[in-house]
Amino acid sequence: MGRWLTVCALSELEDPGAREFTSGEGDWPLPGFVIRHRQRVFAYANRCPHAGHRLNWRPDRFFDRDGRWLLCASHGAVFDPVDGRCVAGPCPGARLLALPVRCTEGQVEVDVEGWGW
Ligand code: FES
Repeated sequence: MGRWLTVCALSELEDPGAREFTSGEGDWPLPGFVIRHRQRVFAYANRCPHAGHRLNWRPDRFFDRDGRWLLCASHGAVFDPVDGRCVAGPCPGARLLALPVRCTEGQVEVDVEGWGW
């Protein structure tokens, strides 16, 4: 069933491109992001498996300059956009937490039900 959170319109998401979102109320909402990569859409928790930091320092900036890899701004971990696996840096083989994502009527939605660290 899921609890689907609308993040943005698909038309607002460049390819490659990313959009941040948060889920939950209070002082510590869970941070996540959606990406568009080679005409596909993926969603991840914004938490690096190396030291638990958010990946980005600048809003909605997750890709490297070439738009090929996702980067962690803290210590330089490099992730495959398709499966969130770290391919270089301090946590090789570790993965970003992938979240269920869908596109419905032009909207990018993420299932945030049961999501927690
Ligand atoms: S927290 Fe991401 S590389 Fe260290």
